[in-house]
Amino acid sequence: MHKLLITGGAGFIGSHVIRFFLEKYPNYKIYNLDKLTYAGNLENLKDIEENPNYHFIKGDIVDAVFIQDLFNTEQFDGVIHLAAESHVDRSISNPLEFVMTNVIGTVNLLNAAKANWNSFDGKRFYHVSTDEVYGSLGQTGLFTEKTSYDPHSPYSASKASSDHFVRAYNDTYGLPVVISNCSNNYGSHQFPEKLIPLCINNIKHNKSLPIYGDGKYTRDWLWVYDHARAIDMVYHRGLDGETYNIGGFNEWQNIDLVRTLCTLMDKKLGRAKGTSEKLITFVKDRPGHDLRYAIDANKIRTHLGFEPSVNFEEGLEKTVDWYLANEEWLEHVTSGSYKNYYKTQYTS
Ligand code: NAD
Ligand code: DAU
Repeated sequence: MHKLLITGGAGFIGSHVIRFFLEKYPNYKIYNLDKLTYAGNLENLKDIEENPNYHFIKGDIVDAVFIQDLFNTEQFDGVIHLAAESHVDRSISNPLEFVMTNVIGTVNLLNAAKANWNSFDGKRFYHVSTDEVYGSLGQTGLFTEKTSYDPHSPYSASKASSDHFVRAYNDTYGLPVVISNCSNNYGSHQFPEKLIPLCINNIKHNKSLPIYGDGKYTRDWLWVYDHARAIDMVYHRGLDGETYNIGGFNEWQNIDLVRTLCTLMDKKLGRAKGTSEKLITFVKDRPGHDLRYAIDANKIRTHLGFEPSVNFEEGLEKTVDWYLANEEWLEHVTSGSYKNYYKTQYTS
């Protein structure tokens, strides 16, 4: 059995990756290490929790002693590291938490792999990272794997730092690592603080749709299932020490995306066309807001054969359908501490 540690598996992308790997690799034992922060939710994995090849471990990657013990006891064959604080707005309010989890937590994992893997043969440490490390593009151009790092938010600075540590462990100690930098994901089980699920939830409840600044900021959207497929390719066939950009060649200005979502939601909810658009409200901009992200995904396409499997319209419709069919999930995750956060940030 291949013993694979996946960190952050109770979160949005991690839960899709775990489900994908369990289905595809019946000879893998998958260990999901997650602290279960506000963003981590075991309901995301309810359908597979009885699978004998799946093990949940509640723990904090910032706890160095715990992480060393875990690696010593379990002798993992590989690590796919996704655990992180992931929301840019939260990083602006509380940068230190991002340093702790994203930087210190990553270094703790690197140290544990280095100290406990007797031989690096056949081992792999995979860091799942973001395109935000490259900073912001103007109206043209794409991020390639050679684009210089230029992070602007505390979140992207912490992810850039952790990427540098991962590469440093490869250069300095020969730890077998691989990194991918992906664009914005969307799909089921995403915490409704991020643009798409926030808007779906607010439209449903007739609440305003906060658009930062003039809404002309641009993101490149990828369906989360396609990110899981790409992660599988990089984990198994990516070359040691390499970086792979992952994206959908699918750029949208925020305002156009939200308008498209409004039209789709009107249809799904049986509301007159134009009803949801009236909820759009332009609000104060995010400080340090990056204008445009867009990925050149030619390397992963050419080297590993990756192509997105759905177009945006299909992916968005599947996403909306999932949120509408899973009201209980939405209610559960938007209760408690998240509600307070939501109120202080946007409704005053
Ligand atoms: P998420 O916030 O939905 O999930 C993060 C998970 O990490 C949660 O389950 C949380 O409980 C866990 N976690 C947080 N701190 C922890 C700690 N100290 N110890 C153990 N577990 C902890 O995030 P996501 O959107 O699924 O992102 C996953 C990874 O992918 C992150 O590393 C993120 O930077 C990266 N990424 C995300 C996107 C995106 O669009 N969401 C795009 C590119 C890269
Ligand atoms: O690019 C990859 C990154 O994408 C990931 O690394 C991050 O973990 C993930 O959160 C995401 O970051 P963004 O900041 O791009 O995602 P978010 O959904 O927060 O915002 C998308 C765009 O929409 C951005 O330009 C800000 C804007 N926005 C966001 C929210 C939450 C609004 O206009 N209004 C909002 O209420």
